[in-house]
Amino acid sequence: MITVMGATGHTGKRITELLLQAGEQVRALGRSESKLAGLARAGAQVLAGDPTDAAFLTKAFRGADAVYTLLPYEVQTIDYHAAQKAQGEAIVKALHDSGTRHVVALSSVGADLPSGTGPIVSLHAQEARLRGLEGANVLILRAGALFENFYGALGFIKEQGINGDAVAADVAIPMIATRDIAEVAAKALRDRNWSGVVVRELLGPRDLTYAEATRILGARLGKPDLAYVQLSYTELVEALQQAGFSENLASLSAELAQAFNERRVKSREGRKPESTTPTRFEDFVEELASV
Ligand SMILES: NC(=O)c1ccc[n+]([C@@H]2O[C@H](COP(=O)([O-])OP(=O)(O)OC[C@H]3O[C@@H](n4cnc5c(N)ncnc54)[C@H](OP(=O)(O)O)[C@@H]3O)[C@@H](O)[C@H]2O)c1
Repeated sequence: MITVMGATGHTGKRITELLLQAGEQVRALGRSESKLAGLARAGAQVLAGDPTDAAFLTKAFRGADAVYTLLPYEVQTIDYHAAQKAQGEAIVKALHDSGTRHVVALSSVGADLPSGTGPIVSLHAQEARLRGLEGANVLILRAGALFENFYGALGFIKEQGINGDAVAADVAIPMIATRDIAEVAAKALRDRNWSGVVVRELLGPRDLTYAEATRILGARLGKPDLAYVQLSYTELVEALQQAGFSENLASLSAELAQAFNERRVKSREGRKPESTTPTRFEDFVEELASV
């Protein structure tokens, strides 16, 4: 039995599907039974509950050979780090109380740094909590920026006729498809062939600048002249708040853009075959364009 948190989301849903296809028993977690119904039909045992409730999570993790964890968020979160801390502490308490031996935890490139990386600071803190789990084997997956972030850019492109962010046009960032993270996570959850705390970077097929990603996206959307415009940090905060982000998360996103611009958020190990994943941005935009 393998327990998967965030099972209705990008990585968790795909992990659940891959595990079911491989004949594993899966306990899929989410906050609502109705959103989990498809996975129940596909053969998962589904459990709906509050992922900040350590007692719920302990029940969900107990008896599992391995658990997949992540720290999801909503863009309206008023105090982002406080919310992530509450979730992170509940997860680690539940892993401890349930005696879980193998954990695969989604984290991010940049989580090696304790501060100055916006939302990623919470993942640094979660990695530290996970390292404190005695007797557990924890695989930390430090993923690059998710291709799926570009879903959020579609509205801006439609309204403004440009793509904009505060990251400089020439800063190349590791970017990855969530399905590639899911492949690695599902295999690890099945194999359970590591011991202690292991960090693995997942970097996508190559580093991409926003300017290049915008060109690829524009070409597929039939807008070959779609421009990437670097916004000021203040402009980014305003644009994100207009798109529904809380002031706190908009400011943290600007802090992250600055960290990219100062080349502080990057691979620590350098690109290697085992951190390079197959899905290209060109493949992903086919899916994005259909939306
Ligand atoms: N964005 C990036 O570029 C980036 C880069 C590296 C790592 N990451 C990490 O990747 C994570 C996202 O992974 P993902 O894409 O697989 O997740 P996701 O699809 O964003 O969310 C997974 C599930 O979590 C639940 N959820 C959403 N908001 C929640 C909240 N406020 N409290 C509790 N549950 C909530 C939802 O399920 P239900 O509604 O069914 O409960 C959702 O389907 C990020 O949170 C971050 O830690 C992100």
